[in-house]
Amino acid sequence: MQGKVVIVGSLNMDLVTRAPRLPRAGETLAGESFVTVPGGKGANQAVAAARLGASVAMIGCVGDDAYGEQLRSALLAEGIDCQAVTAIPGESTGVALIVVDDNSQNAIVIVAGGNGHVSPEVVNDLDALLGQAEVIICQLEIPMVTVGHVLKRGRELGKTVILNPAPASDALPAEWYAWIDYLIPNESEATALTGLAVDSVASADAAAAALLRAGVGKVIVTLGAQGALFANQASSQHFPAPKVKPVDTTAAGDTFVGGFAAALAEGKSESEAIRFGQIAAALSVTRSGAQPSIPTFNEVQSFQP
Ligand code: RIB
Repeated sequence: MQGKVVIVGSLNMDLVTRAPRLPRAGETLAGESFVTVPGGKGANQAVAAARLGASVAMIGCVGDDAYGEQLRSALLAEGIDCQAVTAIPGESTGVALIVVDDNSQNAIVIVAGGNGHVSPEVVNDLDALLGQAEVIICQLEIPMVTVGHVLKRGRELGKTVILNPAPASDALPAEWYAWIDYLIPNESEATALTGLAVDSVASADAAAAALLRAGVGKVIVTLGAQGALFANQASSQHFPAPKVKPVDTTAAGDTFVGGFAAALAEGKSESEAIRFGQIAAALSVTRSGAQPSIPTFNEVQSFQP
């Protein structure tokens, strides 16, 4: 049976160039290619959860422009409920300017556009949709006040609440931690939240301990090729990453979050859900782009390490 995942978050059109390396300040570099690709952390996580087996609804805002229509169509094509994706008159759709280098690293600048209109009032009007969720996911590409509102409401409704604190933020409001079941930062986000330099399993363990002390239920620090570190109040466990040849890491974290949530909503154990999300993320880095890189349930099931 499909479990329902509701995502409150961003939709961006990604404007992606490939270049030999990332440009330095003041430098003009010749790029090798340019494509527009549906993205945005919220929408990417929605696509991941849907392709990986969940019934998904998206809550978000786009502009009343061509990009907004294209992003909505991309989600509808995945069978995602988009009734709560609103086009804001006179606003532009969120965009992400992305450069990917020959080492498959990226640099991203985002412009919020419609994402800035996802207000607590918008979410209040959709309370019935939140009530249908088994898992609720937020990221930090919509206003912080709305994220806090969703986390609190999710806790009140007794849902499984996931926060992917991306892009990196120096601090989260202290009261948020008690509303979060799973906090899922990557290395740089865990570093920003804790002030500890997170670049290894041991340092991720220390950062997770600090976040647990702040009051969060469970922490999963994603570490790219070094795997993921899961921690709760009782113990911590390292999950090594499947080995793959990376092409583009854009949306790898989103794929992990969406896959983990889909597996949890389906009733898998935490360990199974983490491994499932890791395989999905590993497959995503072998392909270019955000949403186009996200694998299907069958691809994850048939993955041979
Ligand atoms: O996590 C990847 C995403 O970050 C991209 O799709 C881009 O839109 C930015 O939001």
